[in-house]
Amino acid sequence: MVNARSASSLLGAVLLARHGDRLEFFQDPTTYTPTETYITPLGSQQEFQLGSFLRSTYLTPSSLSYVNGISTQLADINQVFVLADAGGGGSVILNSIGGLLQGLYPATPESTITLANGTTILGPLGGYQYIPVHSVEPSTVPYLNSWTDCPVFDAHTSRFYSSEAFFQKAEEAQPLLDALAPFLGDRDRNFTNMIFDFVNVQLVHNATFYETFLPTLAAQAYGFANYHEYGVFTDSSASGIGSIAAQTILSYILPALQGIVDDSNALKLELIGISYKPFISLFNVTEAVDTHPDIAGIVDYASVVALEVFETGGCNDEPRVRMKFRNGTSTDQFRQLFMFGKTDLSVTDLVDKLSGIVVGTTEKWCQACNQTTARGCSAYQN
Ligand SMILES: *[C@@H]1O[C@H](CO)[C@@H](O)[C@H](O)[C@H]1NC(C)=O
Ligand SMILES: *[C@@H]1O[C@H](CO)[C@@H](O)[C@H](O)[C@H]1NC(C)=O
Ligand SMILES: *[C@@H]1O[C@H](CO)[C@@H](O)[C@H](O)[C@H]1NC(C)=O
Ligand SMILES: *[C@@H]1O[C@H](CO)[C@@H](O)[C@H](O)[C@H]1NC(C)=O
Ligand SMILES: *[C@@H]1O[C@H](CO)[C@@H](O)[C@H](O)[C@H]1NC(C)=O
Ligand SMILES: *[C@@H]1O[C@H](CO)[C@@H](O)[C@H](O)[C@H]1NC(C)=O
Repeated sequence: MVNARSASSLLGAVLLARHGDRLEFFQDPTTYTPTETYITPLGSQQEFQLGSFLRSTYLTPSSLSYVNGISTQLADINQVFVLADAGGGGSVILNSIGGLLQGLYPATPESTITLANGTTILGPLGGYQYIPVHSVEPSTVPYLNSWTDCPVFDAHTSRFYSSEAFFQKAEEAQPLLDALAPFLGDRDRNFTNMIFDFVNVQLVHNATFYETFLPTLAAQAYGFANYHEYGVFTDSSASGIGSIAAQTILSYILPALQGIVDDSNALKLELIGISYKPFISLFNVTEAVDTHPDIAGIVDYASVVALEVFETGGCNDEPRVRMKFRNGTSTDQFRQLFMFGKTDLSVTDLVDKLSGIVVGTTEKWCQACNQTTARGCSAYQN
């Protein structure tokens, strides 16, 4: 039997989305233990825009990237699976996903139900549909927030902070840190402390700061933060603990790619709400940074990475996967990133290349981190 093929050959995609603008977020530089933070209306707008962008890309039949056969108005929860990191500062990522979903599947008059007594009820807000979001709680499931409570990771971070390269960078950053002094109050100016987030949040939310601060300093602070976070969230080997953020998120990504390929599985879109860390780690372990050195750093708020699964049209060809990236909301373009030096790979090849580093059970995570008590790890002690 020959299927009529539409213009698009997309079978589906795994989407990784960063949260939107939030209030200040302090992370302990040695353990990355976060403080509570909250989404702002700006952040919700960024996420809503991201959702609208994804809707026009994947849910619009005239789009070249339309996901074949996906339900476009009413979400089919067998086709769309949504997860969000509930750690990393509390509700901010869950709330971001909420905003994104409002743009991805906006209110529709089709969102109704007819009751036993014959009355038809429209969802609130003109037919808004509430798509289930699986909240990934770091206290019980480590996969989206795998670098906290992880002593081996802390040791890796300390090693990075005491490396020769880091000391050199800290020296380079000293003039900037001195220039920042008047703005930092009693905040620690040590380079191990990421002042970039403070600067960024103040620039967006503090009028006095906005008026007096030199924009060139903000760009410099971003550059140093990129160096800092890339060093923390990568490792010289993809299986090293510095890559734990990628190793754990891959335990969702790889099965989702296989699920999209599998005809007996309805899955078409898997959406994963995260912080910036897994992006850094994933760009490193897929060797995307080798081809695109400029992506070695922090992605902007409401960034997205799409792993698109497509068919080539050849009868015996296996479905393939390519990676696309949109860095925040200041661009309306996806940029294609190479993985392992290639524009795309068969799903089987990608799984083969990466499955060896996956940390996909709590027990494996406990071992990798040398964690014996927190996050359910005590269950694996004799
Ligand atoms: C039908 O049931 C709904 C929900 O209980 C109620 O709001 C509505 O008034 C009922 N309609 C009629 C005609 O009884
Ligand atoms: C920064 O803090 C670390 C850890 O507390 C310390 O070892 C290092 O000497 C400090 N560096 C500077 C420049 O103060
Ligand atoms: C806003 O920035 C100014 C200038 O750096 C600073 O003095 C003030 O404390 C900041 N306000 C808040 C609420 O952070
Ligand atoms: C990943 O990052 C490490 C630095 O932590 C670097 O040594 C390695 O070359 C990077 N991998 C790739 C493929 O660029
Ligand atoms: C994202 O864009 C910002 C500028 O808005 C840039 O500083 C940053 O390096 C970019 N991040 C990546 C991963 O490309
Ligand atoms: C793991 O942690 C224990 C203490 O909880 C320590 O004695 C041991 O040396 C650690 N092992 C490794 C490989 O870090």
